Amino acid sequence: MDRNKKIWMTLAGIFLVLLIIIVVQVFVRKPYTTIKIANISEGEYDPAVWGQYYPLEYKSYLRNKEMAASPTGYGGSEKIQKSIKEPEILINFKGMPFSIDYSEDRGHVYALEDLKTTKRINQTTAGACMTCKTAQLTDIFKEKGWDYAKIPLMELLPQLKHPIVCANCHDPKTMNLRVINPAFIEAMAERGIDVKKASREEMRSYVCGQCHVEYYFVPASKKVVLPWGKGLHPEKIYEYYSAKPNDFAMDWKHPDSEANMLKAQHPEFEVWSGGVHAKSGVSCADCHMPYMKVDGQKYTSHWVTSPMKHGKEACRTCHNQSDQWLLDQVKVTQTSVWEMQRIAGQTVAKAHEIIGKATKAARTNKAELDKARELVRKAQWYWDFVAAENSMGFHNPTMVLNTLGRSIDLAHQAITTIEKASGGR
Ligand code: HEC
Ligand code: HEC
Ligand code: HEC
Ligand code: HEC
Repeated sequence: MDRNKKIWMTLAGIFLVLLIIIVVQVFVRKPYTTIKIANISEGEYDPAVWGQYYPLEYKSYLRNKEMAASPTGYGGSEKIQKSIKEPEILINFKGMPFSIDYSEDRGHVYALEDLKTTKRINQTTAGACMTCKTAQLTDIFKEKGWDYAKIPLMELLPQLKHPIVCANCHDPKTMNLRVINPAFIEAMAERGIDVKKASREEMRSYVCGQCHVEYYFVPASKKVVLPWGKGLHPEKIYEYYSAKPNDFAMDWKHPDSEANMLKAQHPEFEVWSGGVHAKSGVSCADCHMPYMKVDGQKYTSHWVTSPMKHGKEACRTCHNQSDQWLLDQVKVTQTSVWEMQRIAGQTVAKAHEIIGKATKAARTNKAELDKARELVRKAQWYWDFVAAENSMGFHNPTMVLNTLGRSIDLAHQAITTIEKASGGR
């Protein structure tokens, strides 16, 4: 073989190898963009049916059944009564269902089962309670409009078969993200935001925000309303409630202090929205639904749980510190929030007790008593806003610690006011 021929043979060999690599990349390895839209029909709620077409997403969705503690020691997916670690809950929610049953949240697949078995519901519970537990809301709302909210929950339960499933977040025809909760759509419209025109990036938080928010029921109609008329900060929401919107004055009257109380519900969206991550454009899905890879194929994890169970995928796309460093940062924040949350909750409990005693004493000044009741109502709101939020402060540490500081101060003000009113000082 002469020299020239050898060079040509080598070059042809290299070319052949490159060609094979390119063919494998293009035709054998499936890139992320090969998702084939299955054209599932509207009204198909069974995730197993969707799973036939989107097996990777479905397989990860099924992991929502897993019940395990979180590596942070907070959060986690086990159904544990919160009052075991925080007995002040029993005093602060005395006279209302949360003192009977208040457990740690767990995976989306359990939403309906946990609704059906909670001791918080009875014959008088409104149908409005199913709003955030099932995708079947779509059909029910189409048929009845807001009238469903007033129907007793017990009447609606037998037809509810599917919990939080694909159809809660996806349009079955296009697989685009969507929100189905009319209360969220209305509240956003009032803020001047049309969710139908939202960007993909915004939808990666809106799909969660449609449920992970504070809300109340209009007393007459049981319609679900998000109290955002004045803003999303706990101070602004308190101001909103103080104006007695739609004749809503309170969730219940505390049997000891006789204060008109509010109950906060999981305000993750509100707390996140003021934090450094939201301000940097980091969505709920960025942390809770990170990208995974199997056999070179990239897909979105549908195991929606504590991001610290897979910190590498959830955090290290943006942060170059080690997993251990990030976990430690989260824990330092959560531990300081937990300590302040306990102090706030206990100080509020003490205020209820002291106001309760003064209420029974004949010589207590009535105007001062009412002032103390307003103070304990507000103190508890600030404590509960943080305690009911599920990240133990991580979603916005600065705002959360400030809110707990306000709670402790207000609870002490309630106590000194009542001591003055009953002539104690
Ligand atoms: C920057 C990352 C990040 C973003 C963005 C984020 N979260 Fe979280 N979230 C966390 C971390 C970290 C925790 C604490 C988990 C733990 O303690 O194990 C958490 C906890 C939670 C929990 C409680 C989990 C449990 O184990 O009980 C819920 C619910 C939650 N987040 C919802 C949301 C929602 C809804 C949004 C958007 C509005 C959001 N998160 C945005 C990181 C994030
Ligand atoms: C809580 C909301 C939520 C639920 C429930 C949900 N998804 Fe998703 N899904 C998302 C988000 C967020 C993305 C990322 C979309 C984006 O960034 O454009 C996504 C992306 C996808 C994609 C695009 C490919 C990918 O992996 O990124 C498919 C396919 C998909 N989901 C299928 C499903 C199936 C099947 C189910 C039910 C078993 C389901 N989803 C349930 C929120 C959800
Ligand atoms: C249809 C309402 C709904 C939607 C949409 C929704 N959630 Fe949830 N989420 C719930 C409910 C209800 C629970 C509690 C279920 C239980 O404990 O039975 C929950 C539980 C959770 C938990 C606790 C899981 C665990 O392992 O402890 C996390 C984290 C969470 N959601 C985050 C999100 C994120 C992030 C999104 C958006 C991608 C989202 N959720 C969308 C209603 C919703
Ligand atoms: C999409 C990008 C992105 C993801 C994902 C992300 N972060 Fe961040 N994080 C940021 C940005 C941007 C900041 C703002 C400060 C900066 O530039 O470092 C920040 C700030 C922080 C801070 C300091 C501020 C504070 O609130 O205490 C901590 C701690 C942190 N992130 C932890 C985490 C953890 C834990 C996760 C995973 C659960 C995570 N981050 C996921 C982008 C991200």
